[in-house]
Amino acid sequence: MIWSLQAAPDLTDKQFDQWSKLLEDRAGICLSDQQRVFLQTQVTMRMRELGHSDYSQYYNRVVDGVSGMMEWSVLIDRLVVKETSFFRHRPSIDFVRDFLQNQINNQSLQESFEVWSVGCSSGEEPYSLSMVINDCFDLAQLDPYYGVTATDISRAALTIARNGIYPQRKVEMMEAHIRQRYFNQQDNGRYLISPELQDRVCYNHANVLNINEMPTIQLDIIFCQNLLIYFRRWLRHEIMNAFVERLKPGGVIIVGLGEVVDWSHPDVTRASNDDVQAYVRNPVGA
Ligand SMILES: C[S@@+](CC[C@H](N)C(=O)[O-])C[C@H]1O[C@@H](n2cnc3c(N)ncnc32)[C@H](O)[C@@H]1O
Repeated sequence: MIWSLQAAPDLTDKQFDQWSKLLEDRAGICLSDQQRVFLQTQVTMRMRELGHSDYSQYYNRVVDGVSGMMEWSVLIDRLVVKETSFFRHRPSIDFVRDFLQNQINNQSLQESFEVWSVGCSSGEEPYSLSMVINDCFDLAQLDPYYGVTATDISRAALTIARNGIYPQRKVEMMEAHIRQRYFNQQDNGRYLISPELQDRVCYNHANVLNINEMPTIQLDIIFCQNLLIYFRRWLRHEIMNAFVERLKPGGVIIVGLGEVVDWSHPDVTRASNDDVQAYVRNPVGA
């Protein structure tokens, strides 16, 4: 096709505004002017795959009814940053381990331990959380119900997460005992997450902007890292407020360090830990 050999035309200011508004309205993601090239590259690559040569024509296709929603779900996967790794921010994961260990020691565990990994990408984060939770319960020789609900806007990322198969380079960065305990190496050298952990994590497609339409189960941990950073400050605050509504008393929200500023809520108290940004829900009546 001749089009595929031609350089893509530059997005005009108006077109850039139109596409970035769509991305912000639908996913909360706010692009800076420096990300214009990124946006243009991703949109034109997709246009080429479909044989479109005109930004406006493709835009109309994306916003048009049910087929537009299907196309949007392909495009959004190209526009989000899905970078992640196992145990990405070690202090935050250790915070979860200590939090649970304390509950076990104080015998303050409730009948279930519920975790939500928000913006879970390809699964490394929820699996890392399951590993530390599993370790704690194993050590204490307890077998209560626990589950990690993991959500993301990218269906492609969720497919990888559900399959639970990771390349050697991602897994070999972990300590050997974790690798041996929670992965099975396959003939092709890749690693499959153990069925024990797979059974604990439930993946769902969800846009965090629709948080108010999601089931309001009460959670022990809401883990949301490297997601709110793409949102405007007011939106981060609104989502944090909605997270608070979903916490059990004593439950905790853990965000990426510095991702939420100038936010407070009467029902939570910031944990005193310089390496972690965590907010604990106050006990009832406090
Ligand atoms: C940079 S990754 C972070 C992954 C993981 N939380 C971590 O810290 O390693 C951001 C993830 O947020 C997801 N995301 C972006 N906007 C979203 C939205 N509005 N709702 C749900 N997930 C979203 C992306 O698809 C991506 O997988």
